[in-house]
Amino acid sequence: MIALPPNTTLLPDAEATARATADHLVDIAETATGERIAVCLSGGSTPKRLYELLASEAYVSRLPWSRLHWFFGDDRVVPWDDPLSNVRMVREAFGHGATLPPTHFHFIPSDEGAEIGARAYQRTLQDFYGDETLDPIRPLFDLVLLGLGSDGHTASLFPGKPAVEERVAWVAAVPEAGMEPFVPRISLTFPALACSRSVLFLVNGAAKRDPLSRLATGEDLPSGRVASCGRLQWFIDEAAAGV
Ligand code: 6PG
Repeated sequence: MIALPPNTTLLPDAEATARATADHLVDIAETATGERIAVCLSGGSTPKRLYELLASEAYVSRLPWSRLHWFFGDDRVVPWDDPLSNVRMVREAFGHGATLPPTHFHFIPSDEGAEIGARAYQRTLQDFYGDETLDPIRPLFDLVLLGLGSDGHTASLFPGKPAVEERVAWVAAVPEAGMEPFVPRISLTFPALACSRSVLFLVNGAAKRDPLSRLATGEDLPSGRVASCGRLQWFIDEAAAGV
């Protein structure tokens, strides 16, 4: 088994990591003190099962949907109905909201390019937060979900790309992705991702052994730069851990 990050929970398989994350979200919602609960969703393929679970009979009645606000850690700059869009993936997984009470999905605008979309989404976040300056005492999010790319990226913060160095803006344009799909991206930056009561990496599958091993050797990868003003933890399945 490879060396795993601190605060890792090792789980048997992808279904188990999805269920553990769904349970964690239920806990987050139950302990939230504010009227609104802000969750920052990750994209890609890993979290789709989690989102299906949240909309399933097993969980739909355990979540305060009218208080929940769903944001995105990043998205691809493609039309929302494009197969590459995280908006499309989330809508399909949640069942197009058909079975859910009124919810508040705050999708990243992608119809006017990365720069305009990043500025617009930063305004969305700041309007929701009620300030232009993040205060770790008052986290922007209750939960940030993140994935791990095979190159060690997270959200759309890719090794060697400028957005990794952004320490002021909350949202950055990423004109050149560091791995497929090679389309422009819009990504939250490290300061925004860190401003959360809880940050949780969801990592499944043997393809993630390499980035996990590189993190364990102390290599400076974007996923290793993620911080949290609250908890930071990893849910990793045995295939990714090399068990
Ligand atoms: C994206 C994601 C990205 C993802 C990782 C892992 O939009 O692609 O936000 O950061 O979490 O690339 O992707 P998989 O879950 O598909 O392996």
